[in-house]
Amino acid sequence: MKAAVLIEAKNVVIQDVPEPVMSKPNQVKVRVKSVGVCGSDAHFYQDGRLADWVVENPLILGHECAGEVVEVVPGVNRVTVGDRVAVEPGIPCRKCEWCKRGEYHLCPEMVFMAVPGVNGAFAEYVLSEEDFLFPLPEKMTFEEGALMEPLAVAVEATKLAEIFLGDSVAILGAGTIGILCLQTALAAGATKVFISDINPLKLDFVKRFSPDRIVTIDATQTNTQEEILKNTQGRGVDKTLETAGTFETFRISPSVTRRGGRVTLVGIPPFQEYPFRASDLFDRTVTINAVYRYANDYPIAIRLADKGLVDVKPIITHRFSLDDVKRGLEITANRSDNVIKGIVNV
Ligand SMILES: NC(=O)c1ccc[n+]([C@@H]2O[C@H](COP(=O)([O-])OP(=O)(O)OC[C@H]3O[C@@H](n4cnc5c(N)ncnc54)[C@H](O)[C@@H]3O)[C@@H](O)[C@H]2O)c1
Ligand SMILES: [Zn+2]
Ligand SMILES: [Zn+2]
Repeated sequence: MKAAVLIEAKNVVIQDVPEPVMSKPNQVKVRVKSVGVCGSDAHFYQDGRLADWVVENPLILGHECAGEVVEVVPGVNRVTVGDRVAVEPGIPCRKCEWCKRGEYHLCPEMVFMAVPGVNGAFAEYVLSEEDFLFPLPEKMTFEEGALMEPLAVAVEATKLAEIFLGDSVAILGAGTIGILCLQTALAAGATKVFISDINPLKLDFVKRFSPDRIVTIDATQTNTQEEILKNTQGRGVDKTLETAGTFETFRISPSVTRRGGRVTLVGIPPFQEYPFRASDLFDRTVTINAVYRYANDYPIAIRLADKGLVDVKPIITHRFSLDDVKRGLEITANRSDNVIKGIVNV
């Protein structure tokens, strides 16, 4: 089959590689149709590494994927050949303490696509297992299906943030994840959402979602912390989501949150320690938690998109063919051409 293979940093080549062979119970072969280009793919492309992962052998990137079932092993009955499905890219062991708790995203044996050692979806076929495939509603396209992956992150963040009816919320960073969190926070009943970015085009873009409930903050022109505190009479917001992954946005997250409020860290820090002020955590007792992927969120993401509570279509700004994966990774890595989300159609 044809695949885009990362050989080392900045070197992606189109190769003919063996089709994956099914050898285990529950397995399903999926003909890949659409794959989102994620910031993590771009990191692996640009630097040959991300956090503690290092690309030492050729690796097929891409983990935000939807396609069509083409083959199943005997005994599979949740999906059948011809089904259009979103592919949840991580398969846990199903046996460990965390899997049994339902917190399978914390499984130490997790096999997740497109991290070194596990090939991803910039290819014609991927293997999955029947309980990690989610049939797409009739009117949902493969491109939308692929974006159920980042939407699952936003669903998980919104659940962990405990966004309640009438909450005020701050979302620091209006990239793919921030824009999806904005929509899930609004769907959860937030009545005022401050959203900041350093790119004014992203802020113009988000105004289309419930403009009467959104306050945009251009972090290059305004001090985000002062602006949120001024607009809340010094109180701060009920819930804050950090969705940029920068020192500055981590630093101000607790400071823009009310006493007893909740901060949810979605961004992955490119440094070893979080820069919080101690007093925010003790005398103001802000609760902080971090998001790591998702568990049991794909069905929710699909229902939200199907019922129109979240619209993933407008975030797709770029489309690439499989031959063009390198260009997609470069544009995403350099944040050039005002990209929000690139999709590879295989
Ligand atoms: N926890 C998880 O499981 C998980 C899953 C997916 C992504 N992530 C992380 O979430 C973060 C966002 O991902 P993304 O795909 O949306 O990335 P992205 O690059 O599309 O979005 C980041 C946004 O933050 C903005 N930004 C930069 N500096 C800022 C500042 N000072 N104030 C406000 N905004 C600022 C950028 O302009 C950009 O629009 C990344 O750190 C990513 O690694 C985490
Ligand atoms: Zn992703
Ligand atoms: Zn497990």
